[in-house]
Amino acid sequence: MIPDQIVERLRCPECGRPVKDVGGDQGVQCIAGHGYPLRNGYLDCSAGSVPRGSTDRTFASFGFEWNNFDQVRVEDEGFAEVYFRDVDLTSLDGQCGLDAGCGKGRYTRFLAEHLGALAALDGSSAVEVASRNLAEFSTVLVVKSDLRTAPFAPESFDFIASLGVLHHLDDPRAGFNRLLTYLAPGGRILLYLYSRPSTLGLRAVALRMAAGLRAVTVRLPHRVLKVASAPIAALLFCGVVTPGAYGDRRGINALSRLPMNAYRGKPLRSLVLDTFDRLSAPVEHRYVWDDLGPWFEEAGLVVDAARDETGWFILAHRS
Ligand SMILES: C[S@@+](CC[C@H](N)C(=O)[O-])C[C@H]1O[C@@H](n2cnc3c(N)ncnc32)[C@H](O)[C@@H]1O
Ligand SMILES: [Zn+2]
Repeated sequence: MIPDQIVERLRCPECGRPVKDVGGDQGVQCIAGHGYPLRNGYLDCSAGSVPRGSTDRTFASFGFEWNNFDQVRVEDEGFAEVYFRDVDLTSLDGQCGLDAGCGKGRYTRFLAEHLGALAALDGSSAVEVASRNLAEFSTVLVVKSDLRTAPFAPESFDFIASLGVLHHLDDPRAGFNRLLTYLAPGGRILLYLYSRPSTLGLRAVALRMAAGLRAVTVRLPHRVLKVASAPIAALLFCGVVTPGAYGDRRGINALSRLPMNAYRGKPLRSLVLDTFDRLSAPVEHRYVWDDLGPWFEEAGLVVDAARDETGWFILAHRS
């Protein structure tokens, strides 16, 4: 069953007309007869979309990632609290949302508990995993589509989250502007985007080293990189995360200031996943606020919160 609130907002990818739920696995159909089936619980709107630039490689990389790191873990709740810290969750009650680039659905689950209805969209085979992880939520529809050609009417959503997605596009700002077309007047958008330090320091050096490593790792077979991610993550965990956590406990500032503090108190497996993520995604962009401010200003959005905690968490609304 597709939630009514989502069917109303769906548009035929081919002709742009409204669609109807035709029942069962047949999915939806427009008046011109273009049909989009439900496959393993997700609506497949990916047929016919022409891959551009790095898109194929990006979807292959994330499809592998989420099909191999497919479990929603207890620590995801802790990460979700950081992602959604600036959002008044009670205000989402009854609203309709879009999670653009939902991956395995770990944060979609968190949102689903607060929103009235939610479309969880991803362009990769991660939708296979997301539809399993979101099966218990009757208010959620998982949709397979590129966010730049998403099958929704303009101004459909009160709340759009796109967490860790746009920085993987060839043209992130164009993707952002595309997402805004789906945002209702007064609606809010929550983004997570990679940041880069504006001064030279430990983090800048570490990022430069990671960029050097990525030049090789993005070309490795995903299976090989998955195996390599475990020892790399273990080294970082022992050499950086654990000393940082020790510094926090003992009040030793020099250690507390070490990077990767998000992993303190989290299991090693969360760093193994993120190591694979960072080393496999073919494209990544990083930003300082001077890069991002104009995105919001020129789109006429009001920024409600913007914090850089080794990545930009930005909440903005359309006035
Ligand atoms: C780093 S993952 C983040 C997943 C999820 N938001 C999370 O934080 O767990 C980025 C996701 O965005 C998806 N993605 C990247 N480019 C996309 C595009 N153009 N259209 C739809 N999804 C896209 C990828 O397939 C991947 O699942
Ligand atoms: Zn149609």
